[in-house]
Amino acid sequence: MRTVYVNGQYLPEQEASVSVFDRGFLFADGVYEVTSVLGGKLIDFAGHARRLQRSLGELEMRSPVEEDELLEIHRELVRLNEIEDGLVYLQVTRGAPADRDFAYPPEDTEPTIVLFTQSKPGLAESPAAKTGIKVVTIPDARWARRDIKTVQLLYASMGKMMAKKAGVDDAWMVEEGQITEGTSNNAYIVKDGKIITRELSTDILHGITRAAVLRMAQEAQMQVEERGFTPEEAKEADEAFVTSASTFVMPVVEIDGTPLGDGTPGPIAKRLREIYLEESRKVAI
Ligand code: PDD
Repeated sequence: MRTVYVNGQYLPEQEASVSVFDRGFLFADGVYEVTSVLGGKLIDFAGHARRLQRSLGELEMRSPVEEDELLEIHRELVRLNEIEDGLVYLQVTRGAPADRDFAYPPEDTEPTIVLFTQSKPGLAESPAAKTGIKVVTIPDARWARRDIKTVQLLYASMGKMMAKKAGVDDAWMVEEGQITEGTSNNAYIVKDGKIITRELSTDILHGITRAAVLRMAQEAQMQVEERGFTPEEAKEADEAFVTSASTFVMPVVEIDGTPLGDGTPGPIAKRLREIYLEESRKVAI
C-alpha cells in the first residue's frame, strides 16, 4: 500500500483526502511538478523546486513549504514507498475555502499540498526508447499561459486520446503553423546535425529536462537553434525526439505517418539520452 503526503501528514493512500471545495478540484486552481527518481535518488530536484516557485508566483499563490522541507518530503516518500525508479508527483492548490466562489479566497486560506510516488522499475530502460515513438499533429487548443505548470490538463488528455485513436503514441500540438510541444513533453527535430526546438515563451512549458539537455548538447559541441518549426519541416528532418521528466530523451520515429530517416531512433537522440541519463544520475540527490 502506498504512503502519500497530504497537508503535513504521511498517510496510507486510502486514508488521504481533500475537501470537495478544494480549488484544485473546482477550478483547476493548482500547479504541479513531476520529478523522476533513478536509483532511489531525485533527478534535478532543484530545477523542479525553482519552477514550482515560478508557477506559484505567476498565480499569486502562497507556497506551503520551503524548498528544504519540500526536499525532505520527497525523500521521505521515496524511502517509505521503497522507490528505486519512478516518479514523485507534487500538487499545490489555492486551498479549500468555505464555499465555491470564482474570486480568490482570503490570503490566509491554507494552500493544499499533496505528493505521491509512482513506482516504475526500469524507468530509464524503457523499451520505447529503443524503438522510438510515433506522433500525430493536432491543433493546440490550450489556454495561453502554458509556461505555468497548472493541473488544467484536460486538453493534454484529449490529445493523448487523439493519438491513441490514430494508433500512435503521442501528439505534437500546432499553433499558427508551428509546433508548440508534445502533450506532456517538449519537442525537437534534428536537421544536418543541428538540434532545433521552439524558443521559451508563454506558448510552452519551460521543461526542466529541456534546460538540462540543451546545456549538455552545447557542452558536447552539438549545435542548438531555439526557434519554431513547422510540421512540414519536422517530417523532412533527419530525426526528432521529445524530453520530459518521465521519458528523459525519447526518440520520435514517425510524424503523421511519415517515417523520419530510416524510421529508427537517430544518433543524436540516442547520444543525448545517454549523456542526459549519465550526467543526471551523477548529480541526483
Ligand atoms: N510533463 N511540456 C508539457 C506540456 C509538459 O506537461 C511537460 C512535463 C513538459 C516537460 O517538462 P519537464 O522536462 O520539466 O518534465 C513539457 C510531466 C512529465 C507530466 O505532466 O507528467
